[in-house]
Amino acid sequence: MRHLLSAGDLSLAEITSILNVAEELHTIQGRAIKKLPTLRGRTVINMFFEDSTRTRTSFEMAGKWMSADTINVTGKGSSTSKGESLRDTMLTLDAMGTDCFVIRHGSSGAVAQAAGWVKAHVINAGDGTHEHPTQALLDAFAMRRHFRKLGESAADSDFEGKTIAIVGDLLHSRVVRSNVLLQRTLGSKVILVAPPTLLPTGVEHWGCEVTDDLDAALEASDAVMMLRVQRERMHGGFFPTAREYTELYGLTPERLARLRPGAAICHPGPMNRGLEISSEAADAANSLILDQVTAGVSVRMSVLYHLLGGSPE
Ligand code: NCD
Repeated sequence: MRHLLSAGDLSLAEITSILNVAEELHTIQGRAIKKLPTLRGRTVINMFFEDSTRTRTSFEMAGKWMSADTINVTGKGSSTSKGESLRDTMLTLDAMGTDCFVIRHGSSGAVAQAAGWVKAHVINAGDGTHEHPTQALLDAFAMRRHFRKLGESAADSDFEGKTIAIVGDLLHSRVVRSNVLLQRTLGSKVILVAPPTLLPTGVEHWGCEVTDDLDAALEASDAVMMLRVQRERMHGGFFPTAREYTELYGLTPERLARLRPGAAICHPGPMNRGLEISSEAADAANSLILDQVTAGVSVRMSVLYHLLGGSPE
C-alpha cells in the first residue's frame, strides 16, 4: 500500500489487517506511557487546509505515539497564503525528506493530485465533499468492537448480515462516500436516509437502499450513523426550517426509544446537538461517539504503520 486516498482502494484483506493491527495498538491507550519505537526517524507532515479538531489531533497523536516526528502545516501559516501553488508547496516539503503527508483540503480530488507529485506516502484526511477513508475505517473499528461485545458477530465476518443507516446531509459528506465504499467491501447493507434536496447526484448507483423514511430505516438497522448538517457548505435553502429537519431526520429522544435493542449510535463529529442528534441520543448507553474518537488514534496508528512499515511491539 503506497497511499491511502480512497476507501474503495482497500481490499477486504487490507481492511481486516488495518483493523486487526489497530486492535493490538488500541491497548496502548490504557498505558501510562504511550510510546512505541515503531516509526522512529520517520517524518510525517500533517497539512490541514481546512479546520479540524479530531482528525488532525488524532493523526498527530498517532504519529507521536509511534515515535515519528510530526509537523503541522496549515494553509494560513504556510506560503500558500502568499500565493504559492499547492504543487510548489508539496514539492518543497517533499524535498526536505518527508516520509508521509496527511492532507485535508477543501477541493475534492486535491489529495489524489498531490499524491501524484511527491515521493512520500500520502493519506487523505478529507478532500472536499469526496472522501475521508480513515474516518470510515475508525467507524468500522468502533462498530466491530460493539458487535463483538454484543456477541453478534458471525464467526467469519463482523459485518455480513448487518444493516447500517447513514442519515442526514449526504450531499456534502465525504464521510458517507468513504463509508459506503468500505462497507460494500465489508459486506454490510447500507440504507441512506436524507431529504431529497440533500441526496448526491447519482446516489442510485451507489448500491444502497435510499429512502426519506428514517423511522422505517431505524427499525431495520444494527447501527445508525448521523451526519452533521454542514451549514458552511450550504448556499441556499436545503430544508425549510431547522425544526422541520429535526422532526423528520433527527435522532430525537422518541426515535432513540424505538431503536433496535443494542443498536449502535454513531456520529463522526462535530455534532449539532439538537439539530441532527438530540443530547439524549448522543449521550446514550449505546452511543459510540467517543469510542469513535478513541478508535481514531488506534486506526491512524495502524494506517501509518501499514504505509511506513516497522513492527508493532
Ligand atoms: C467530518 C469531516 O470533516 O469530514 N468530521 C470528521 O472528520 N470527524 C464530518 C463533518 O465535518 O461533519
